Amino acid sequence: MQFENLLADRTSRMGASAIREILKVVSQPGMISLAGGIPAPDSFPMQVICDLTTTVIEKYGSGAFQYDLTEGFMPLREALVGHLERKGICASAPEILITSGSQGVLDAIGKILLSKGDKVAVEAPTYVGALQAFNPYEPEYVALETDDDGLIPDALDRTLQEHEVKFIYLVPTFQNPTGRTIPFERRQAIAEIIQRHNVLLLEDDPYSDLRYRGESIPPIAAFAPDHTVYASTLSKTFAPGLRIGFCTSPEVIRRWLVLTKQGVDLHTSTFNQALAAEYLTGGHLERQIPKIVRIYKPKQEAMLQALQTDMPDGMSWSKPEWGMFIWVEGPEVLDIDRVYDECIRCHVAFVPGRYFYTEPGQGTATMRLNYTMIDEPTIQRATRTLGEVLRQELG
Ligand SMILES: Cc1ncc(COP(=O)(O)O)c(C=O)c1O
Repeated sequence: MQFENLLADRTSRMGASAIREILKVVSQPGMISLAGGIPAPDSFPMQVICDLTTTVIEKYGSGAFQYDLTEGFMPLREALVGHLERKGICASAPEILITSGSQGVLDAIGKILLSKGDKVAVEAPTYVGALQAFNPYEPEYVALETDDDGLIPDALDRTLQEHEVKFIYLVPTFQNPTGRTIPFERRQAIAEIIQRHNVLLLEDDPYSDLRYRGESIPPIAAFAPDHTVYASTLSKTFAPGLRIGFCTSPEVIRRWLVLTKQGVDLHTSTFNQALAAEYLTGGHLERQIPKIVRIYKPKQEAMLQALQTDMPDGMSWSKPEWGMFIWVEGPEVLDIDRVYDECIRCHVAFVPGRYFYTEPGQGTATMRLNYTMIDEPTIQRATRTLGEVLRQELG
């Protein structure tokens, strides 16, 4: 039987992510990977998970293994009220929806809002996982201009004058792939613009709890709650395998999100939500964050230092206050695909930046480097190799 003939039209648009294909190359023996994007396993609070497993069983009994509300396990939603309040977002427990990772929010928003040809405005570059979630619904992307401080408000204003967009998708804090953070004043300006144009923002915020330096900045949702779906997650501050994401949104959107989720998975794992509730109410998040920062900060410093030493003239890179990525840009003549092939021959892998753009031909001289999974000496070795290959390529 030709099973391909059975596939729905939208399935053919789900093509495997190019980055996943790169990650297969990376798993070859001897390869040093700057390509991944997953948390270091030693950042998971294993003993806490063990203790909380007992607590959850004692406290909730069989309830932790029963079907539950699609909206989410109430003790977790109650625990998230204070968590969100500290970020400047006012939401009561019934106004918070629990999802299977923040990816669950991206998928559900695509599903409920997008019809073929609808326009979605995204940063250039943007998070590929969001594009993967939206692509089956056949939107058209409108690329938003960015600089070292992320989205440029005037560019957003111009885009919204020229295009009627269904929604804007942004990762304002420690963006994936660039690590950039939109400053406070720009957030206020963006909030004013989306309110003036009466357009919806999907604000994806997986990273803001983890910061190495500097002051936290409120999410854009804090300035424009009636125009924002705010999505976040415990993937980076607890454990990604638990798949605990959450969102706040205008009420009508929330109702449709719930209906959609009902058809997908009925609800997120009750047991995992109960673990997450105890993690938050027991103060474990606050204790774990400094431990995670202590794991990543020296790695990021090692990479920034190594880039300073090894990069040839003409290369520039982001210096994020957190995040898992550094974004490197070269002169336009630089062909990163050739650099990538040569680096793979030298057993160093990274992700060419063009995969994070929606327009062909963009980002051809850029790359994303990740440092969470390797130690400092390996980071230095990989960066030295990258520098040598770039120097050769740039003559
Ligand atoms: C910007 C961004 N959004 C969403 C996600 C998905 O996270 P989750 O594990 O919560 O689904 C990631 C994962 O790395 C991400 O970088």
